[in-house]
Amino acid sequence: MEHGKQVELIHRVLEHLRAGTTHMVEDESRLPVAPYLQPERFEAERRLFRKLPLLVGHVSQLAEPGDYCTHNATGTPLLLCRTASGELTCFLNVCRHRGTRLVPEEQGRRKQAFVCPYHGWTYDSTGRLRAVPDEAGFPSRPSESVGLVRVPVAERLGLLWVTLEPGGPDVDTFLAPVAAELAGFGLDKHVAYQPSRIEKKLNWKIAIEIFLEAYHLKYAHRESIYPLFFNNVGLVDPLRPHIRAIFPKRSIESLAGTPEQGWELRKHANILFQLFPNVLILVQPDHVSVSTAFPMGPDVTEYRTLTLIPELPATEKAARYWQKNIEILLGAVQEDMAMGESIQSGLRSGANEFVRLGRFEQGLRYFRDELEARLGGRS
Ligand code: FES
Ligand SMILES: [Fe+2]
Repeated sequence: MEHGKQVELIHRVLEHLRAGTTHMVEDESRLPVAPYLQPERFEAERRLFRKLPLLVGHVSQLAEPGDYCTHNATGTPLLLCRTASGELTCFLNVCRHRGTRLVPEEQGRRKQAFVCPYHGWTYDSTGRLRAVPDEAGFPSRPSESVGLVRVPVAERLGLLWVTLEPGGPDVDTFLAPVAAELAGFGLDKHVAYQPSRIEKKLNWKIAIEIFLEAYHLKYAHRESIYPLFFNNVGLVDPLRPHIRAIFPKRSIESLAGTPEQGWELRKHANILFQLFPNVLILVQPDHVSVSTAFPMGPDVTEYRTLTLIPELPATEKAARYWQKNIEILLGAVQEDMAMGESIQSGLRSGANEFVRLGRFEQGLRYFRDELEARLGGRS
């Protein structure tokens, strides 16, 4: 993020602090409850996901030739590889013989080929079928004509994006509204540390929405991160189809009256980018957390987190430092997810036909408006 933009955002925060206000929209609004519950809605959203660039990893997870990782949360089993020549590839992780999951583990490094655990059909990291045991039984000679099914994959901003079906936006057009701001954080120069994934009993939209406002900090995070932040002060701006939110820390007040050249936003605020539909990039003072919320069912979400740090810890002390940071974040996420699961079961009760959004909960409004528009006006 350019320094001028950081200064502008800090001024906006300081102005709100002086005035005792926060960034708000004109009016409160409502969101219907049904889209959090309906199976047909879940299906429609999953179809929408298939046409959008989906974040499935970080470039450091495929740093060396032979590195591979798998990803199952899009609903389509994926195998991502770095080939011997350094090319990034992605395939359906499905054997072309009878459909077995070719690579069951989450990640690894393999110089040799991938051998299907069922009958031993063997593929290389370019997807080519190299060997078929007893191929005389297949007069069509599959080893000459069959390969793993390719999935388009791209590396942008140090992140790995796949698109499961054609017909949607290309990844550059899609990321354009946030690309310049995000590029400044150099995510491509980080390494992904301790990837985690948790399954939660809530709709994926709730898993995103709980991060889009600062209204809950004082209550949901009273004992954890709230002491660092203000009560309900934030900036939430649409960068359509994405959103940028700034949640200032109390330390930001110390900048007032100091020379602007020394102002650094990430030291005094959490900078959150919600990339449509299901990505949360949280920029903190010295690292960045990248999370994705994948719908696994109307009320089941897989929430994955990569902690991007400048370099792998070389000492015990450094490892402890990052461990502590990860624990703080995941602790706060657990607090958020507990609220989210509580919301999900509450909505299922039928108590509310709609939920109410305050004027400072506009992030949820922007997110839902974008989703509705892309689903073709359904709600
Ligand atoms: S299903 Fe893979 S070799 Fe038979
Ligand atoms: Fe939270």
